Amino acid sequence: MSYLVLARKYRPQKFAEVVGQTHIVKTLINALKLNKLSHALLFSGIKGTGKTTIARIVAKALNCQNLQEGYEPCNECLHCKEINKGIFVDVLEIDAASNRGIDQIRELIENLKYAPVKGKAKVYIIDEAHMLTKEASNALLKSLEEPPRHVYFILATTEPNKLPPTILSRCQRYDFRRLDTKTVMRYLKRICEGENYLIEDSALELIVKEAQGSVRDALSLLDQAMAYGVKTREDVVVALGWHEDSLLEDLAVILLEKNLREAMEFSTHLYERGIDLLHLMEKLTEFFRNLFLAKALHKEFNFEIYNSKLKELYVVTSLEEILLIFQTLLRDLEVLRRSSYPQLQFELTLAKICEYEKLIPLREILQKLEGLSSKAELLFLTSEEISTKPKDWENFLKSLKGDYPSLYQILEKLPEPEINSQDVVITVKGEENTLIDTYLPLLKEKIEKYFHKTLKLHRETLKEFSPEEIKTRPEVQAIIKEFSAKIAYIEPYKGVEP
Ligand SMILES: Nc1ncnc2c1ncn2[C@@H]1O[C@H](COP(=O)(O)OP(=O)(O)OP(=O)(O)O)[C@@H](O)[C@H]1O
Ligand SMILES: [Mg+2]
Ligand SMILES: [Zn+2]
Repeated sequence: MSYLVLARKYRPQKFAEVVGQTHIVKTLINALKLNKLSHALLFSGIKGTGKTTIARIVAKALNCQNLQEGYEPCNECLHCKEINKGIFVDVLEIDAASNRGIDQIRELIENLKYAPVKGKAKVYIIDEAHMLTKEASNALLKSLEEPPRHVYFILATTEPNKLPPTILSRCQRYDFRRLDTKTVMRYLKRICEGENYLIEDSALELIVKEAQGSVRDALSLLDQAMAYGVKTREDVVVALGWHEDSLLEDLAVILLEKNLREAMEFSTHLYERGIDLLHLMEKLTEFFRNLFLAKALHKEFNFEIYNSKLKELYVVTSLEEILLIFQTLLRDLEVLRRSSYPQLQFELTLAKICEYEKLIPLREILQKLEGLSSKAELLFLTSEEISTKPKDWENFLKSLKGDYPSLYQILEKLPEPEINSQDVVITVKGEENTLIDTYLPLLKEKIEKYFHKTLKLHRETLKEFSPEEIKTRPEVQAIIKEFSAKIAYIEPYKGVEP
């Protein structure tokens, strides 16, 4: 006998066998009992969570010749058996993703008017419903609205947002949830018992985590693990090639050890394996966040580390150090999102973290040098020359450019500010007043940090517009038009003082 994959062997045949999704199962059974089941159902949710499975059980419940208690199909009668084999004439599964989709829909609509051939109800299960062509969904619409009494439609999709609103509004919607870790864990354990397969809990945990709430994924990973004879957690890592968690932990070790060479090799290795770097970086950031919280909150924060080397490093690394890595990752994550060179950017981030210590003293040295040189200059420059240091302003702008491009653009257009011994005096006029106000707190902070001076705004008096002039300005006209509004009163703008 050929080997039956676990997902098929253990496909639930009746409601009671479905794992999780209790809200859905309950509602469906109730509707069946009261004979109030909607004729157009939409099952949406992530892959492998029971959409097709439950659709088939509903089809059986509607056609079973010997319904059991709780509206369960008997799975023994001819109808149930034929539905299980997929050969029952009145239950039709259509894969909207295949070319045959539209032809089948046309044929289906043609045949709707005829009573069921054998059973009590005709059930059409339309899988991947979001893939229906426009013509096909148009053809479906009318039938969905007023299906004949003996007809039921069950649309299944992983991407309900891709369905036209006209279809959505005609269906009663059931949202299939990811199954939680505990539930999947319990289920896998039960299956391993059923299969007489011995495996450590920690190994199953890894599989469950990787499956991310999809029962089918959990079962096929278990299939693979069994094929390798996996027993322990390490076995899983080896047998299944890579696992996100172990990958993250390995990477965390490299970063905490500040091993630049290994970091670069690791990065190349990831790239060659076609691993999604952005996703990994997101996970890595989250990982360091958890590491930080675990360290900061001690035992209150439940976070498990499996890698023994990482466990040691975690103990000896300071909280500040972990925070610094977390911050760098978080900041660079944004950059990576926008980068056209993800691999280079990813490497740069790893390199930065590994080389912190070399970078930080260098920065301190630079700062000291800067301090020295400005003191030296003091000896030679006249007071007038000291009051404006255009070079510094330029550098200040440069330092903003990357992180705050909009602020940079505003400042760049302003006349060079006057920098005296205590203040940085920026002159703004007209519209610049409003623009700069949006950024005032930020700008104030940045200037204080960079120059160790306070920000002073010199606002050149606004040109006074007469009420008539204001009313005719294009932006005012546009607002009036857009909102069909009237001007109630006009108040002069006073600006905000820092
Ligand atoms: N809730 C569940 N309870 C028990 N087993 C499940 C459940 N969901 C999925 N499975 C297992 O996964 C297999 C696939 O499930 P099913 O075909 O119902 O997924 P689906 O939600 O239709 O996924 P897809 O979106 O990929 O079509 C089933 O054969 C079954 O073994
Ligand atoms: Mg399916
Ligand atoms: Zn039956």
